[in-house]
Amino acid sequence: MKQIEGIEDALESEPLARYGLTYVGSGASKVCFETTGSDRKLIKVDRDDLASAIKLALDGGDTEQVFSLQKKRRNAYQEQEDALAAAFGPDHVLRKGAFRFTVPVTPEIAAAVLGPKRKTLASRIDGVLEIRSLIETQQIAEELKDRDAYRTIDMQIPLMDQDDFRGTQNVDTALRKIDGMTSRHIDRDARQLKENGYLGIAQEVIRGMVAYTKGSGMMVDLFGTDNVTLFTGIDGKPDFHLVDPILPGPRELWDQNISSDTGFSLLRHYYSYLCGVNKLAEALGMKERLEPEDLVYFKGASLPEGEWPKR
Ligand SMILES: Nc1ncnc2c1ncn2[C@@H]1O[C@H](COP(=O)(O)OP(=O)(O)OP(=O)(O)O)[C@@H](O)[C@H]1O
Ligand SMILES: [Mg+2]
Repeated sequence: MKQIEGIEDALESEPLARYGLTYVGSGASKVCFETTGSDRKLIKVDRDDLASAIKLALDGGDTEQVFSLQKKRRNAYQEQEDALAAAFGPDHVLRKGAFRFTVPVTPEIAAAVLGPKRKTLASRIDGVLEIRSLIETQQIAEELKDRDAYRTIDMQIPLMDQDDFRGTQNVDTALRKIDGMTSRHIDRDARQLKENGYLGIAQEVIRGMVAYTKGSGMMVDLFGTDNVTLFTGIDGKPDFHLVDPILPGPRELWDQNISSDTGFSLLRHYYSYLCGVNKLAEALGMKERLEPEDLVYFKGASLPEGEWPKR
């Protein structure tokens, strides 16, 4: 769990103090808080959503616009949750809810939540800015909250940065780089899963992943810590939760085909997923595999070759 600089102070100052928020953790896109109002659910704030709402409010725009966009996204999100529940079984999906709320945003909390890249935006807030937003909630994963009582291990696929391809001449070299890194990680992860008694449950996760991807053409977001969490409960039985399985941002962003992705901006994700799932399945002694065709991104196109696009 990454600690965010300045978050504790911001949460303890008015007007936020009255909501009794406790920082839980954060990833690349969201910041999670527990509230005194519930010990079953936590709230999740999306950094990009918050930034666009702040920007719109400061520029005198129609904040209802952000809200209706959020609602539209939620519907798309719920469809993906349904597909995940069908592929993995409903008990494994920690579904999200949402409620409409007016969030009091101070420069301090904006700076802490949005991070150093958006310092300028945060500093434009004068006093308290009220933002009407859809706030997401999710059932608390007890195994993440109480790591002493549960043993946990997460399933991840490593992802290269776009910058790691700087100086790369052709696509083949880039793909081989991804392949090599994925292999090294998966070999180690598969060994750990087996040694810790998670072989059966990991195979169940892979079967779910293959079913979900073949049915929807989409990836499960395996590019983050705890997104897919395997754990051993108090009863000693291994189990798993999909804590954060849906790719961040609008669905349309991920729904692209390689033929229109001229800068290959999504290639590293899609190719890592394809390699990662297949290598993991193989390392766990399974025969299930994904084909490039199973993913919307590679549909109707073979794996790319030739020069790496210059940006
Ligand atoms: N339901 C939950 N119960 C307990 N802890 C949680 C829960 N959801 C998230 N967390 C904690 O907060 C962290 C960030 O949450 P989440 O994965 O949803 O954010 P994210 O920004 O989308 O992550 P990434 O982009 O890295 O995948 C997790 O790593 C986990 O430690
Ligand atoms: Mg995550």
